[in-house]
Amino acid sequence: MTDALYAGIMSGTSLDGVDAVIAAFPDAFSEKTGTSFYCKLRGSAFVPFPAALREELLALQESGADELARSARVANTLADLYAQATQEAARQAGLAVAQLRAVGVHGQTVRHCPAEAWSCQLNHPARVAEHLGIDVVADFRSRDLAAGGQGAPLVPAFHAAMFGSASKHRVIVNIGGIANLTDLPPQNRASGFDIGPGNVLLDAWTMKHQKGTFDRDGAWAASGKASSALLAALLSEPFFSKPPPKSTGRDLFHSAWLAAHLASFSSLSPADVQATLLQLTATSIANAISKEAEEIYICGGGAYNAALMSALSISLVPRTVQATDVLGISAQHVEALAFAWLARETLARRPGNLPAVTGAKGARVLGAVYPGCALSTAPLLQAGEGR
Ligand SMILES: Nc1ncnc2c1ncn2[C@@H]1O[C@H](COP(=O)(O)OP(=O)(O)OP(=O)(O)O)[C@@H](O)[C@H]1O
Ligand SMILES: [Mg+2]
Repeated sequence: MTDALYAGIMSGTSLDGVDAVIAAFPDAFSEKTGTSFYCKLRGSAFVPFPAALREELLALQESGADELARSARVANTLADLYAQATQEAARQAGLAVAQLRAVGVHGQTVRHCPAEAWSCQLNHPARVAEHLGIDVVADFRSRDLAAGGQGAPLVPAFHAAMFGSASKHRVIVNIGGIANLTDLPPQNRASGFDIGPGNVLLDAWTMKHQKGTFDRDGAWAASGKASSALLAALLSEPFFSKPPPKSTGRDLFHSAWLAAHLASFSSLSPADVQATLLQLTATSIANAISKEAEEIYICGGGAYNAALMSALSISLVPRTVQATDVLGISAQHVEALAFAWLARETLARRPGNLPAVTGAKGARVLGAVYPGCALSTAPLLQAGEGR
């Protein structure tokens, strides 16, 4: 059995930057039935977004002047960062990019509107292919949306392959900008959905009132006192009680959503609001988890927020709450690994969506393939070139 090497590139709703991984999987083309699945992390890199790019991405969440051209320019910049992140991860793994079979690139979501059957991920996969000279698999969500699904979440199939147990009822919760879960009952089919805000509101409130882009370890939230009245008001958002399939994004959970709720709570200190937002993330996650679940594993940046992990443990007692690191995959790498795996599934012409999760009318091979070319000796394009 030979390994096949894939890169996975994720830049999520937190707008913190680009996560890149290099993963080794059993070769999808020589794999025999019954082969046990494995996923070995060979390298990783994180390329933070420059502040100006983050601001432009935030601005593009809403309609504005000249947004078509602005989106196209940002897509070029993102493609350059995606290629750079792939190169850094390959270098860290001691590999040449040419040794990779493909790279799965999710793109940057700026609008998500499953009710109208579309979702917009800014990306320029052809430009990534031009930089790297290997196959690029991108645009993972469209096919599921075209088949009547939400187009999200797409990570549950990977969570099931990677973390499913024959004897334990597990739940995997990804706490990125938005939180989503995968329910994995033993011997049963996986299900999953988007829960609501993960870090997105915590980050937005921190940026408004503190230095920095996030509340490290949840220390600021821990200095405040959560308001049960504000928490109840925030939890009254209909999305939380909507039955799956469901998915969401910054389209719903944005600063204006929070500001509208805060209008009746003007006496609360900013730290108390932050404490309440942390409880909102913890409580909405705990409410979404099946009572039968025995083990809860957290991935995404939220796993590094000590105060949030502690609030989750309290809400879910006596179930165990741990980062996916204890299952052998670091919390920060899970989502990028999922897109490396989805690229592999696409090239093998296997479906990547779970209709029970997205609501699509059937399993579908996801994505579009931008073929690599013979690797030239041309230097990496500079950001902004070729406009
Ligand atoms: N030490 C930490 N303390 C508190 N929060 C942290 C810490 N490290 C990361 N985070 C949070 O995690 C966020 C980044 O998480 P992540 O990259 O998983 O989200 P994402 O980019 O939205 O990804 P995705 O959409 O794939 O879930 C940061 O914006 C921050 O809020
Ligand atoms: Mg991120």
